[in-house]
Amino acid sequence: MSDSIRPQIREKVEKLRKILHWSNYRYYVLDDPEISDVEYDRLMQELNQLEKRWPALLAPDSPTQRVGAPPLDKFETVAHTLPMLSLDNAFNDSDVLAFDRKVRRLLKDAGTIYYTAEPKMDGVAVELVYESGKLVMASTRGDGIRGEVITRNVRTIRSVPLVLHAERSGRIPRIIEVRGEIFISQEGFRQLNQKRLRKSLPLFANPRNAAAGSLRQLDSRITAKRPLEIFCYGVGRVTDIVFESHHEMLEVLKKLGLRVNSLIRSPITIEKAIEYHKELDEKRRKLPYDIDGMVIKVDSLAIQHNLGATSRSPRWAVAYKFKAVQETSRVLDIEIQVGRTGILTPVAHLKPVNIGGVSVRRATLHNEDEIQRKDIRIGDTVLVQRAGDVIPEIVKVIDAKRTGEEKIFNMPVSCPVCGSEVIREKGEAALRCINAGCPAQVKERIKHFAAKGAFDIEGMGDKLVDQMVNNGYLMSYADIFILDKEKLQTLERMGPKSAVNLINAIENSKMINFRRFLFSLGIRHVGEHVANLIAGQLKKMDRLYSVTPSELESIEGVGPVVAESVGDFFSKKENRVIIDRMITAGVKITTPETREAGVLAGKIFVLTGSLKQLTRNEAKKMIESADGKVGGAVTRNTDYLVYGQAPGSKLERAKILGVKIIDEQGFQDLITDNLMK
Ligand code: IVH
Repeated sequence: MSDSIRPQIREKVEKLRKILHWSNYRYYVLDDPEISDVEYDRLMQELNQLEKRWPALLAPDSPTQRVGAPPLDKFETVAHTLPMLSLDNAFNDSDVLAFDRKVRRLLKDAGTIYYTAEPKMDGVAVELVYESGKLVMASTRGDGIRGEVITRNVRTIRSVPLVLHAERSGRIPRIIEVRGEIFISQEGFRQLNQKRLRKSLPLFANPRNAAAGSLRQLDSRITAKRPLEIFCYGVGRVTDIVFESHHEMLEVLKKLGLRVNSLIRSPITIEKAIEYHKELDEKRRKLPYDIDGMVIKVDSLAIQHNLGATSRSPRWAVAYKFKAVQETSRVLDIEIQVGRTGILTPVAHLKPVNIGGVSVRRATLHNEDEIQRKDIRIGDTVLVQRAGDVIPEIVKVIDAKRTGEEKIFNMPVSCPVCGSEVIREKGEAALRCINAGCPAQVKERIKHFAAKGAFDIEGMGDKLVDQMVNNGYLMSYADIFILDKEKLQTLERMGPKSAVNLINAIENSKMINFRRFLFSLGIRHVGEHVANLIAGQLKKMDRLYSVTPSELESIEGVGPVVAESVGDFFSKKENRVIIDRMITAGVKITTPETREAGVLAGKIFVLTGSLKQLTRNEAKKMIESADGKVGGAVTRNTDYLVYGQAPGSKLERAKILGVKIIDEQGFQDLITDNLMK
């Protein structure tokens, strides 16, 4: 840069940024603009020109930077400093009163408790990290423990401040992690779909899907074009400020320039919260965005702290859901689906009907008893309901519409897919196909195995799995790891490039932690949560072979049904063989123990900038083969930041957090030194 930049220009740029940030805030956060659109555009253009002329002045938090940046290959993940929990649901007034009673019981009778009542936004939960007032990172909730880093995408959202307001809040905390919901308004959704219709692109089913899809774009320039908005409702870690109540915290968020929903009421008693729920329910049809309930939170932070949380949700909050949206439709047919554990589920094919913005064509009928109880017949007119992201279901048959032409449906006596015997176990409502090798079961097991939260094999979609099972390439999930390029290329719509990509994705998935591995196996009753509990207790995979049911039951949250199911699974030789085959094929189940074995065990590295002697992948491999980990973003837990040429903001963050910083040579030395030990 031969041009030296005159102070006047720097000042001008600073001034323009200030005005533009402020105008942005007035328009997108307060919905109360101070300057005209024309004026805003003119100032933006002026700033753009100055930044173009003096690129050294460019800064990531400039208002001009909301247009997005070139695409990423994939999202990095990051651990949340404090877990992002989910909420327990309440469906009626008495559930809410029971919640309040439980709060008081846990506190050993605290008298009247005051709450905050907030609309429950139907969008995507995110965390925004501000350091010294600047937005440095944004991530999704993910599994609550780790989320995906979506900073570039979130920067494009106009109601997310890139810089916090210092003037009105008095003092900017050194670190504040803000939590909120990103969503798309109904009008934004309508316009977005209209645009997509014109371009013959597939339409989004509802505003929430549109928001989630938009946030998951690897190319933030696409996200920048989507009408995303935010409402903030909480915090994670905060330094330098101590709040006494939830409502006080929300007030501070507002002062910092963050967007907080104006329909929040606080502090109120539980009775008032219940009244307000009715009011909101009536109001919600007129709101410009979707809400699916009301969140009731204990207002005092001291009491929140006393109550604490379970691994899943805080004991101080509850989501009081609104009644589901219902419509009528007709049952065109009933089909049987065979799931991964062999359960036969009857599914109704409906005449398509729009329920709360989603076109519904199928509804689960659960099981035989349910069909009989509700007396659902093919041809019936039925009331269908959809509650949020729950699978639609039939509430009841509209008897008045019966013509006598309706056909009674009987469950099959053999599996519709493999013809094997079906049984109904004692005390269970479900029919199950007893053939573990039933192609339908195999397909569903493999889909579950490859899905997100499990092995997470990119590119291993449902259609592909169906094909590979049909061709006999996959008999069990262990076969995934012996697939080769040649085999894959014989499949439909699979060119050499996709085949290589898939092989790479499979290769990359081989390193997996115990928790996810256990979940992947698709054991009955072992969902993500239970897998988490068991892995947390047993620590090592081998322990599962010898664990007794009573030992499993001693884990909090694990009951006899789960214990029996897990015991059954591991007592079967064929299951052990499959696991052994995976391990032979190179699947590595990481546990705290195995990590201790490597020289970099437990050490977390973050890479920034381009390295000269190594590619990023090579560096990553070196770290991982010594049992270290590579993180996406710098956090308190990062042990080393390795920087190359043109390091990014990660270097700054590492400095602030006091993380050890080493260059490429230092990194190579570290590895060799450790290996020599
Ligand atoms: S509080 C620990 N407040 O609901 C408290 N959540 O089921 C958890 N949500 O993942 C979050 N509006 O996506 C909270 N006003 C609100 C909310 C809200 C929507 C979502 C959020 C969260 C989910 C929990």
